[in-house]
Amino acid sequence: MTTLVVRTRADLRAALADSPRPIGLVPTMGWLHDGHRALMRRARAADRTTVVSIFVNPRQFGDPSDLAQYPRNETRDVAMCEAEGVDLVFAPAVDEVYPPGFDTSVIVGSIAEPLEGAARPGHFPGVATVVAILFGLVRAERAYFGQKDAQQVAVIRRMALDLAIPTEVVACPTVREADGLAMSSRNVHLSPAERAAAPVLRTALLVAREAWANGERSGEVLRHRMRAQLAEEPLANVEYVSCADGSTLAELERVDGPALLSLAVRFGSTRLIDNEPLG
Ligand code: PAJ
Repeated sequence: MTTLVVRTRADLRAALADSPRPIGLVPTMGWLHDGHRALMRRARAADRTTVVSIFVNPRQFGDPSDLAQYPRNETRDVAMCEAEGVDLVFAPAVDEVYPPGFDTSVIVGSIAEPLEGAARPGHFPGVATVVAILFGLVRAERAYFGQKDAQQVAVIRRMALDLAIPTEVVACPTVREADGLAMSSRNVHLSPAERAAAPVLRTALLVAREAWANGERSGEVLRHRMRAQLAEEPLANVEYVSCADGSTLAELERVDGPALLSLAVRFGSTRLIDNEPLG
């Protein structure tokens, strides 16, 4: 089986017309790793056609240097898709996704406001817009996203529901390195010392989870546990720690139901996020 690579909307449509349903879509920005691979496997297991999109979406980057530095290697990515039995890779140029005259932005409301939304203005409008386009182009029965970006999943679910997009949004567990660091395309930017320090994100989440498992229900105490753990790592610059309601993502005073612990930490210029659901 060979993976077909298409670059235009027209070629994508043509290829999909002959593809058996159901179709599973895995949207990515490339520099693929085992986290992406797990999404492809879920699609392969459930759907008859697996489509991976590889598109570094300029609209979701605030900082132009972050966009410029985003790692890319399409040859390697396509080889990985091929090894995973992916049927179709959609790897469009920026103009193909946003043709001249493009002038729409998808803005999801309150769920997109805290956490990543507050830290990265414009990020979620960029994500929701490109995912809406991909959903419209591929018309997949299912689309697969990683729990690693928990708020992103929530934003896309909200969008799909509100805009009556029939694609089912499937969330998949976070894939980690052996030392607990969540796999991310951005990990490649970590220096050896930063890479050695980065599992502190996971440690901080697990310390708070353990406190919660032992009965701690104060949101502030759980946030403090994470901050205290992160403070032990001199290379870690904390952007936020959060203990939020699992469905609204509003910060919690008390944890009485499903909640989400999450954090964003910088190591030098590399920004990492991770999270842990509770309950
Ligand atoms: P990207 O960062 O390439 O991630 C693509 C998908 O892989 C996302 O759903 C993300 O949550 C998932 N993923 C990343 N690391 C993972 C890990 N360690 N375990 C499990 N899943 C993981 O997220 C994006 O791209 C973009 O915002 C996108 C949705 C493609 C829109 O441009």
